[in-house]
Amino acid sequence: MKLASTIRTIPDFPKPGIMFRDITTLLGDAQAFTLAVDELVGAFAGTDIDKVACIEARGFILGGAVAHILGAGVVPLRKKGKLPHDRISSAYQLEYGMDIIEMHTDAIESGERVLLIDDLIATGGTAMAGIDLLKRGGAEIVGAAFVIDLPDLGGARRLEAVGIKVVSLVG
Ligand code: PRP
Ligand code: ADE
Repeated sequence: MKLASTIRTIPDFPKPGIMFRDITTLLGDAQAFTLAVDELVGAFAGTDIDKVACIEARGFILGGAVAHILGAGVVPLRKKGKLPHDRISSAYQLEYGMDIIEMHTDAIESGERVLLIDDLIATGGTAMAGIDLLKRGGAEIVGAAFVIDLPDLGGARRLEAVGIKVVSLVG
């Protein structure tokens, strides 16, 4: 099965000019969801991973499933104002706006090996903010994995330029 055929594109959402990749159709297809999760996990076969960090909101759906298969813990990187305990923040720009993500200061023990998961990388602003939080939290980042890469927006290259292994399933 081709994962790309299970993802639909909605023009002009959430703003004019944006071609929005809607993964709800992939998520609702049991075969496609299983394949996507298995391929994300398979890309890191044989790698020690203590925790999977995933980005609110779509990253949570994939990250939780990936962590379960890996036997790893989950670190939710949440949009501003959602985490109740001591936290660190990182502001970023994404393809269609600005936001802030946060992580609990005790989410990671120094030296823990962490895989970052999100559904999609476009400009890489969100993922770079996640990497910033993980590094400040003391993580050793083993890589970042996405179902979709929008290569024209250069996000994967931004991550690779700072030494992060990037995996994506659909380009
Ligand atoms: C989307 C997507 C990534 C981010 C990628 O999230 O899930 O997290 O944009 O864009 P970038 O590479 O340009 O930073 P969004 O902020 O729309 O949030 P959602 O998951 O809550 O829908
Ligand atoms: N996040 C950033 N750009 C996106 C796009 N084109 N489709 C879906 N999510 C996105």
